[in-house]
Amino acid sequence: MKTIIEPFRIKSVEPIHLTTPERREKHLRAAGYNVFLLRADDVVIDLLTDSGTTAMSAEQWAAVMRGDESYAGSASWYRFERAVKDIFGFAHILPTHQGRAAERLLFGALCRPGHVVPSNTHFDTTRANIEATGAEALDLVIPEGLVPSSSHPFKGNMDVARLRSLIAEVGAARIPICMLTVTNNSGGGQPVAMGNVREVSAVCREAAIPFYIDACRFAENAWFIREREAEYAGDAPIAIAREMFSLADGCTMSAKKDGMANIGGFLATNDHRLARLETEQLILTEGFPTYGGMAGRDLDAIAVGLYEALDEDYLRYRVTSTGYLGDHLAAAGVPIVQPPGGHAIYIDAAAFFPHIPPLALPGQALVVELYREAGIRSVEIGTLMFGRHEASGVETPAALELVRLAIPRRAYTQSHVDYVVEAVLNVWARRGAVRGYRIVEQAPSLRHFTARLAPLA
Ligand code: F0G
Repeated sequence: MKTIIEPFRIKSVEPIHLTTPERREKHLRAAGYNVFLLRADDVVIDLLTDSGTTAMSAEQWAAVMRGDESYAGSASWYRFERAVKDIFGFAHILPTHQGRAAERLLFGALCRPGHVVPSNTHFDTTRANIEATGAEALDLVIPEGLVPSSSHPFKGNMDVARLRSLIAEVGAARIPICMLTVTNNSGGGQPVAMGNVREVSAVCREAAIPFYIDACRFAENAWFIREREAEYAGDAPIAIAREMFSLADGCTMSAKKDGMANIGGFLATNDHRLARLETEQLILTEGFPTYGGMAGRDLDAIAVGLYEALDEDYLRYRVTSTGYLGDHLAAAGVPIVQPPGGHAIYIDAAAFFPHIPPLALPGQALVVELYREAGIRSVEIGTLMFGRHEASGVETPAALELVRLAIPRRAYTQSHVDYVVEAVLNVWARRGAVRGYRIVEQAPSLRHFTARLAPLA
């Protein structure tokens, strides 16, 4: 059979509240044209994030019922630790309430002012946690990774030559850790090749720099390696994942992505001394080391979810379904970041609305139009998110004006995706009449979450 289907059937459903254009207009006005300020009940298809929005399986719900809520040494912890060690292979596992808590523990233990932390592209919370220590977060993705139309198969790769020259320039002593984000979320959900992981690992080992993987979407990355790197064609995703992590000294993980859970995460390391330091901090802010910030039932849901994320039928459907959305938009001429990533499609809003200048927020204009057209919630990754320089208050255009359509795992069906395609194409057909926005109210930092906007006349 050529048709690839959702490899699950639905046992429990949640109603979607269909809205009218008039009500959506009212909700938009009340939310100050910021979709973060909408009630989720007023959203028809919610593509704000793939984080924590996964539909859990019957096996996961069964595991939830087995959750052991003992404060110390719970059975859930041992099941979680066994699963994480089996897949990721690291010596020490520290449970955390989500990914950013793992980041804070890791960078808090390693980074100081004057340090530089390279990555392909740091995710915002990763960057913020590094900068909070006084260190600098540096993005070293390959040049193709910054060109939306480039269809390089591994646009998430790190530029290894630039990593080498950074080490030569600042010296390994000022680089306490090197990260690699798989897949590269901030770079369009693009994968990193095993060959690149191997090279980065070798350069780091030679310079005695600890090498860590931001593992949020590790299973999707493993699938892309299997599909695009000849040496791994047809290999089991779990074997690919194990090889990837065997090249690293540790990882941070948000189980809200490829942990197939609604909350949770962990920090893993092979460094005994570091693990002791981090554990002290874990107890201070997250919880006892056998639960971190999670309930026992969360640990059990993740222990099952990590294996489900590596299931071949699931991954084939996942990547095909995201690609279906991207390919249908691209076929109609909509400019998207190519090739489609694993968890999201990114629309190039600057190319979609060439008549809207960056400071008039073309990405936000598209976000508003998708809600206005069909009740779809997406997120701007452009000048609203990155345009303000905190120290000076000066506005400059972001490097790219993107709108992310992130796909929750196992939550929507093909007809939902068709609905999204139709909505984007309807906006595309009337794109010339869409105007920009100005900000009328904003916080000094992370303004995109709470800013209020108004349409430009
Ligand atoms: N690293 C990456 C690559 C991420 O995408 C995220 C979260 C985190 C770390 C932090 O994990 O949310 O559990 O604290 N990304 C979400 C998103 C929020 O919408 O892309 P967290």
